[in-house]
Amino acid sequence: MISTEMSSYLEPILDRAIPASTTFEVVSPIDGHIVASVPDCGEEQARQALEASGQAFKTWKQTTAYQRAAIMKRWHALIAHNEPQLARLMTLEMGKPITESVGEVRYGGSMVEWYAEEAKRIGGESIPSQFPHKRLHTLKQPSGIVYAITPWNFPIAMVARKVAPALAAGCTVILKPAEQSPLSALALAQLWREAGGPPDAFQVLTALDPRPPSQVLLADMRVRVLTFTGSTSVGISLYEQCARTMKKISLELGGHAPFLIFDDADLDLVVPEVIACKFRNGGQTCVCTNRIYVQETIAEQFVKQMADAVSALRVGNPLDAATQVGPMIDAQGFKKVQNHVQDALTKGATLITGGSPLQGLFHQPTVLTNITSDMLLMQEETFGPVAPIITFSTEEEAIEMANSSDYGLAAYVWTRDLNRAQRTAEELEFGIIGLNDGVPSTAQAPFGGVKLSGIGREGGRWGLEEFLDIKYISVGLKK
Ligand code: SIN
Repeated sequence: MISTEMSSYLEPILDRAIPASTTFEVVSPIDGHIVASVPDCGEEQARQALEASGQAFKTWKQTTAYQRAAIMKRWHALIAHNEPQLARLMTLEMGKPITESVGEVRYGGSMVEWYAEEAKRIGGESIPSQFPHKRLHTLKQPSGIVYAITPWNFPIAMVARKVAPALAAGCTVILKPAEQSPLSALALAQLWREAGGPPDAFQVLTALDPRPPSQVLLADMRVRVLTFTGSTSVGISLYEQCARTMKKISLELGGHAPFLIFDDADLDLVVPEVIACKFRNGGQTCVCTNRIYVQETIAEQFVKQMADAVSALRVGNPLDAATQVGPMIDAQGFKKVQNHVQDALTKGATLITGGSPLQGLFHQPTVLTNITSDMLLMQEETFGPVAPIITFSTEEEAIEMANSSDYGLAAYVWTRDLNRAQRTAEELEFGIIGLNDGVPSTAQAPFGGVKLSGIGREGGRWGLEEFLDIKYISVGLKK
């Protein structure tokens, strides 16, 4: 079933889905309309996908990096050419403001382009031997079939950040996109095919309940890599399941990012960066700040400027180019936001602006002060448009509070003091530091966390290594 909106664009895209006897609906969070129905795959489809992926791997791994790069460059060009349609589809299925969706299509495309280029730089090493008759060297080879599980909050970029390096490395991929946003992933698979990519090298398995197909794929020895972005609790369960077949794993899990603002910060510069960091994608971003720590001498002025900026944010239909904050993804996500705000207010937080639900899945952008560590929003990711502000007096105190979380994905620091900037960046226990930068993510840089935020890195050359095995070859020459 297809909504009239974009029906001709959707038809070939839906053909990319692995067929199944039952379907489920993709419901737009904007107004609850059904965007399309997609196959609800289970164990049988997972087994079929595995067979096809295994066959495709036999030939894909034999291609040269130059051949893979050529296909991936065409794929990148098609993504760029389809930018308006891809952005609209993304906004329809998961509610991201359309200007951000356009940005995400470019961000995802930049990953395909970067890995197309980097494929040509996969090389081994020559190691000096202590024996005159021996030559030692290494090869890097594709690990095998990759199982990728992606989230709904970045339906193109998170797919591209996993699938592009895997394909560039010579692996084949079975992708299980989030049930809320499978259409963007299917659109990418369709463009891959149009670019000349072997269809079975990149298959999309849509499923409402990921457990049945995942059980098949996780138990199979042919799947050599699992790459997952999602919650820490699911990541832990997947990590356990991968142990039995000793798969390589890359887990990008939850975050609880602190944003430290010191008293020498230029507030006119920092406030827009905090807004971008906190409110992009309606706060539904793993690297969004969840805890804004501001030095007490500038706190009053900072709160005032935040209140003005946040109350001016335009909430509304994300298809409207003027909208800055769209709906939450679903009822569960919306309830969590409401619950966090209510819990904080009950425990003594002060409401500076916002605080209320709007119609449907929309929630007012909210600023809260007088935050205490027992509040839910200080312990869990809110994944919504809520900005809690906490004050600190010294650098040591700020670092201690920032590090007091079991999560370690991203942290942000704002200061004009170079010594303090470097010192703080080194002390913070996080995988990504935005130093006077509220949005540090980019294709060529490593993305990932420490502690409960995950294992491994995506992005840049680190993201490619996740899909490569090192083979050591020792050559004994005639003595
Ligand atoms: C995420 O946090 O889910 C990804 C956002 C990014 O790549 O910056």
